[in-house]
Amino acid sequence: MEEQTEQEVVRALVKITRYTIYIAVLLVACIAIIVVSLSAGGRKSAPVVAATAGSGDTPVSAPTTDAAAPAPARPIPADAWKAPDTSTIPAGKSGEMIRYGRELVAHTSNYFGPKGSIAMLTNGMNCQNCHLDGGSRLFGNNYASFMASYPKLSNRSGHKEPASERLVECFERSLAGKAPDTNGREVRSILAYMKWIGRDVKKGQKLFGSASEKLPFMDVAANPAKGQVVYLAKCQSCHGAGGEGMLAADKKSYTYPPLWGKHSFNDGAGMYRITNMAGFVKNNMPYGATYQDPQLSDEEAWNVAAYIESMPRPHKDQHGDWKDLSKKPIDFPFGPYADQFSQQQHKYGPFQQIKAAQKKTSDKS
Ligand code: HEC
Ligand code: HEC
Repeated sequence: MEEQTEQEVVRALVKITRYTIYIAVLLVACIAIIVVSLSAGGRKSAPVVAATAGSGDTPVSAPTTDAAAPAPARPIPADAWKAPDTSTIPAGKSGEMIRYGRELVAHTSNYFGPKGSIAMLTNGMNCQNCHLDGGSRLFGNNYASFMASYPKLSNRSGHKEPASERLVECFERSLAGKAPDTNGREVRSILAYMKWIGRDVKKGQKLFGSASEKLPFMDVAANPAKGQVVYLAKCQSCHGAGGEGMLAADKKSYTYPPLWGKHSFNDGAGMYRITNMAGFVKNNMPYGATYQDPQLSDEEAWNVAAYIESMPRPHKDQHGDWKDLSKKPIDFPFGPYADQFSQQQHKYGPFQQIKAAQKKTSDKS
């Protein structure tokens, strides 16, 4: 009798222990699943290991490599500017002008290049080579706020400029050529296109992604020699060993535009300032890179920009520009300057001290 109860108690105890172990294993498995799925951040291939945890072996490590793309490190705000859809270009005369303007921005060289059908005025580049996607792209020198902000006092020329005057400056500098007639059909059409693209933008409105990104300054000068290494690895395949680019089959425009040399933008162009070049390259090059998915570190972008800016290109006489020296951009690569920093430092940095000195003088005045 006594022995029987004892045996029953032992059996019961064994049962209880067994169930406790089952529950414990289950608990461990649950915890493992939670840990794995949390640390995998909801990415797709995560809890495979945990599924086998019922056997009692606790999975200790979550998978560390993952083929799924992580969320972009640099998200674009939901309310960022977007170019209007081209299907909204109106019919009729005004729409025709907008469409023609867009065509001229995209294929400038067919009309004004060395084999241009209207006039031979430029180096063969297209506006769109730098104002990407017809000037509709974030951090790709878009035209979003251009028309809303003109006419505007230009620090470069020292007077108030109408939009047409600013526009043709890119013919004289970026396209290293001559300005077309500012009252002609072509310039008026480009302006109509720019007005259409910026139709939702108000004067003075701050926009995410306009012009090019202002990269954080480096503590040291940008280094052309280090930039050459980047260039050879990541740019040369398209832009050529001599930065000469590659003409399209019809020889009228470039498949890959030149970055330096006699067919490139001249030294009076906006791209000849390293902050503009570095920010543009970071967000758009090698071709396919975007703000969300850049392919270069900031340092690589600064250095490759320095390399490109260190190479020869057409010269523009700019002695009439920047009458007020204090208005010169800090990275303007030609003296004289209102401060004591060298031309070398203004061209390649480091920029922190220049910026600080500029702030001091403007605080005083
Ligand atoms: C080599 C690159 C490059 C090419 C090619 C180029 N631009 Fe530009 N453009 C720039 C850069 C960089 C800026 C901004 C920096 C500055 O103010 O100079 C700019 C500024 C402008 C602006 C002023 C924008 C604003 O919001 O103030 C207009 C308008 C413009 N470009 C029109 C054109 C047109 C039209 C063409 C073709 C005929 C053209 N650009 C070709 C690089 C280029
Ligand atoms: C896969 C080809 C390709 C590679 C690689 C590439 N680019 Fe470009 N790049 C282009 C194309 C195409 C354009 C013109 C874009 C357009 O017209 O839409 C361009 C335009 C440019 C421009 C503005 C136009 C000009 O000629 O000044 C710069 C600056 C530039 N690239 C720099 C670079 C740098 C720096 C690298 C390397 C980090 C690089 N690119 C790598 C294809 C490439």
